[in-house]
Order: sequence, then structure tokens, then C-alpha cells
Amino acid sequence: MKFLKTFLYLCLMPLSAFAQNNINLIPQPVSMQVDAGTFTLSKTSTIGYNRDAARPVAEMLTRKLNAATGFNFQVRAASSASVLLSLNSTPDAELGKEGYRLSSSAKGVQITANESAGLFYGMQTLLQLMPKEIESATVVNSIAWTVPAVRITDYPRFGWRGIMLDVSRHFFSKADVMAYIDQLARLKYNVLHWHLTDDNGWRVEIKSLPKLTSIGAWRVERNGRFGEREDPKPGEAATYGGFYTHEDIREVVKYAAERNVSIVPEIDVPGHSMALLAAYPELSCLKKPVAVNPGTDFADWYGNGTFKMKIENTLNPADERVYTFLDSVFTEIAMLFPHPYIHVGGDECYKGYWKEDPGCQALMKRIGTHHVEDLQGYFMGRVEKILQAKGKKMIGWDEILEGGISPTAAVMSWRGTKGGIEAALAGHNVVMTPTTYTYIDYNQGDQTIDPPIYAGLRCKTSYSFEPVPEGVDPKYILGGQGNLWTEQVPTLRYAEYMTYPRAWALSEVYWSPKSAKNWDNFTRRMENHFQRADIAGINYSEAVYDPIVDTYSENGKMMLLLDKEIPDLTIYYTFDGTMPDDHSNKYTGPVAVPDGPVTLRVQAYRNGKPIGHFISLKRAQLESRM
Ligand code: ACM
Repeated sequence: MKFLKTFLYLCLMPLSAFAQNNINLIPQPVSMQVDAGTFTLSKTSTIGYNRDAARPVAEMLTRKLNAATGFNFQVRAASSASVLLSLNSTPDAELGKEGYRLSSSAKGVQITANESAGLFYGMQTLLQLMPKEIESATVVNSIAWTVPAVRITDYPRFGWRGIMLDVSRHFFSKADVMAYIDQLARLKYNVLHWHLTDDNGWRVEIKSLPKLTSIGAWRVERNGRFGEREDPKPGEAATYGGFYTHEDIREVVKYAAERNVSIVPEIDVPGHSMALLAAYPELSCLKKPVAVNPGTDFADWYGNGTFKMKIENTLNPADERVYTFLDSVFTEIAMLFPHPYIHVGGDECYKGYWKEDPGCQALMKRIGTHHVEDLQGYFMGRVEKILQAKGKKMIGWDEILEGGISPTAAVMSWRGTKGGIEAALAGHNVVMTPTTYTYIDYNQGDQTIDPPIYAGLRCKTSYSFEPVPEGVDPKYILGGQGNLWTEQVPTLRYAEYMTYPRAWALSEVYWSPKSAKNWDNFTRRMENHFQRADIAGINYSEAVYDPIVDTYSENGKMMLLLDKEIPDLTIYYTFDGTMPDDHSNKYTGPVAVPDGPVTLRVQAYRNGKPIGHFISLKRAQLESRM
């Protein structure tokens, strides 16, 4: 029924009406009817709420409106107001826990929902319906604070709409994390997956194990490309890092909850544990001192997903002290985070040190296996029992499937969708977050422009993601995430650059009906959100304007293939050593790259003006893309 309604909405709702009314909602609502007229918020308007549980959202809205308008609204309990937030006394079945209805006319705005989460999302939609200046933290004068007359019904497609933030590779302060959560909540994300531990820093205070943060939270300061940085020098002070105290965590959890965001903490074991081992080396096989890693060349990668760790970063699965230790860790983690799931990592666990270890060999004998890989299944099973004893459920990266897992464990599918499909077919809950669509640490424009990392991921590709694979029962797909690994993301400002606009695209993937997705239409709304982000002081990438340069081989010739993400751009290029402008070759289809030591120079234009980055690639660079 919902699908039918959405389909009808898309057919009946002329897209031009969105444009005429300058409506640029992200994510797209389930249904929207645009009526004639507008409501204008003025200093004599009133803001009301009908029940106590609606008051916090009404107050949040008031703070936001007061900041930009300079009006001095006070919220009040009321049965009518110019802007009224109402919780239903009888549940509205169509809306569920997070849905809302918003109706506006010349008289005012009414948002109704079953729960305050729905009011919160209705508020976000209302703010997006208003002029972009509403994003300002300071008063903007001479603006008519209008809201177009609309009737919106809206609710999410998925219950798990997440972004993962890695705070190990680089530390992000409590204030940074809260700012990031606030931004995500505006896009109707409701999960922050907090990657708290890794080889490069342990970020959460565990009171019973103080060395985890007194040692594990600090590394030597290094710049440069991750994986190529200099080793710590003997005696060099570890000065870069930080961690969150219990008090900090409680504050962030509360702040997030006020924005309908719940936090899933990740303690990444048994691999990715070098920071833990820097503090407690006795928990590894070699028991050799290691440093919290600053991003050195610590592994050999073999290109097929396999690798060898040159420095040990795995816990010893045969040592009972490891499980006692993890019990202490998860006791405090379970206490700090109310979310039913705890993420235990399980990814990229190198087993070379296990293979050589007599204790691990004895354990393999005891559990009756010749495969060292089975020790990971054993380890994950032990960890899951620890979590269960604390009333928590386990979620881990898709590698946890390899050793067999209990029916209550959930899987986060990152190495494509294969693990997610396998898990869902076996009846596990799954969060879809494949690298190829959702890894927002990957560079989003040309790798000669955007700092290169492991791979590239265009915004348009993120937007095209479909989280429910064919043949899988959708009830097992909890939803999806975007993952921001921060090996090369040192600041919140740059985290924003990497996150947007791809997190805008993914918000629509996870919130909006599948049938509402339309890339060309999204790009227009995205460009409005660029302006909103400018006013809000939020950074973003404009790589969507950059030409996509590829080559392929045909009849022994290298062919040039140019593409674009934004439909109304025109691409001009040269091979003759001149700077391209809009009198140069206009790209209309594949062309042969001329022989010789040529350089391609390419520039996108819109309305006669260059837009996006100028890209220049020498013959060898073009060849490497074939
Ligand atoms: C991962 O990207 N290692 C889960």
C-alpha cells in the first residue's frame, strides 16, 4: 500500500511544483502535496506544543528560529499556535515511531506525530521548507520567513540509518562529535556507529583498565599519507590523541538521544588492537611491546584482500586473560551505551601470529580444527557470550560470519553485499554498508585532485545504492550506513568535506521510498543544500562538478571516456597543449587519445562559466586508467 501511494505521488506530483515553490527537501518525503499560498513567520507568531513530551522539540525549534530570525519566541503549551507540535493521543498507524505529518497554510504550520522522534523529523522538514538563511547562527534581517503551503506525510524506509565515525585514526573532541551528530540528525540519520578503538588509538575510558587510555590513547604526531608515516623514534613522546571519559560519553549519548540518534559503540577485536596491546602487550601471542601506531607501513597488502601484519595487532584467542579483560571492557561499555547492540569489529584479523603460537595450536587441537581461521569463530563466540551476559546483542563486520555465529548476532556487510546476503538468508539481521557505495572515506573526485585514499566513490554512485539485494527478505535488512574512516581525516572540517554531499545522497537511500529516488532531481536539491551548508558553516565537497575521466582500449587504441555527475554541465577538453575553454573540443562521446606524449586537459562548464576543478592528466596517467 505504501509503495502504491508513493508511486501515485511521484506520478501526480509535477516536479516543476517543487521547483516553483523552491522546495528542496533532503531526504525526499514519502508524499507531499503542494498547495497555493505561504505562511510567513513573524515576531507575533506563536509556537506551541500539546503535551509535555513534545516540549523538548518545541524548545529546540524555538532556539533555532530565534537564532536566525531574531524573534524572541517563547514556547507554550497550547491547543493552537502559529506553529503547533502535536503528539497524537491515538497512534496514527501509517507513521510508526519516526513518522510525522506536516501541514502548512497561510494560517500556520502543524506537525503531528506519534512520538517525539517524529516531531523532531517534522521540525527538520519545516526548517528545510524555510529560506536557506534559517541555517544562520546569527540574526539575518530583511528576510520574509516563509513556509510554502504543503501537506506532507513522511516516515522512514529503514529503521537503521547510520553513519560510522572512526575516532581512533584521528581523535575528534566531544564537541566535534556532538556537532557531527547534530548535522546528521538534520538528515534524519538515527544511528552513530562510534568506532572507538583501533591500532591508532583507544578512545574510551575503562576505569578498571586505566592503561588503555593513559597509554593507548596517545601516539606520536605524524603527518603524511597513512601507511607511509615514520615509525616512532626511540624515546619519542606520544603527544597526539585523546579519549572520552565516562562523563563525556554520557553527555554525548544524551545529546544524541535528544536528536533521536542512538550510539552503537565499536570495540574492534581481535584484530585492529595495536593501541590496546601498546598498553597490555601480555594479551598478544608474542607479548612484545608495540607502540600505538601513527600510520606507519605496518602491513603488506597482497591486492586480493589478504595481507600480512608486520607488527602484531591481534589478541591471543588462546589466553583466558583476554576474555577476563574483555569482560571488564564490555562491563563498562554496556553500562555507558543503552543501544541493544555492541559492535565487536571482527574485521581484517591477521592470523599469522596465531598460527605460530603453541597456545593457539593447542586450542585448535582442543576444538578439533586444523584451520587457524576457526579460532576467530571461537573467539567471537566467547565474546558474544560476554555480551549476552550483560544483556547486549552482538554486531560485527561480515568476517564474523566465517567462524559461524549465533542466530542473535547481526552482521554489517562491508566487503560488498555478499556477506549481508549470506547472513540475511541465514536469518540474521544485517546492516548494509558495502565499500563500493557507502565508504565515505574514499576520495569523491578525481584522485589527482582529491587526496587519494584506498579507492574512489562518486556521490552519484552512493545515491544509486539499493540496500535490499534481490532475493533477500527485506525484514532482515535493518538498514544501512555510510562509513567515515579517518586515516586521512584529521579535523571535523575535513570530516564534513568527506561526508557531504554523499551523506545527503545516502540519507535519501535509507529514508525515502525507493521509488522516490531520482538523481537529476536530487542534484538540484543538493545544490540548494550547498547554499544552506555555506550559511550553516558546514564544509562539503564540490567534486560532483568535476569531470570523470576514464580510458579503455579499442582496436589497439586508447579511447577517452568522459562523464559527469550533474546533468547540465558541458565538458571541454584539449590534447594540443592549450588550456581548455568553451571554444575547445566539446565532449560528446568517446574519442581516441592521439599518439605521442600528449596531456589531456579538461574543464566542465555551465552557462558559459567554468565550474569544478580543471583536470590535467599525462599519457601515462591515462594509460594507468585503461
Ligand atoms: C573495514 O572497513 N575494515 C570494516
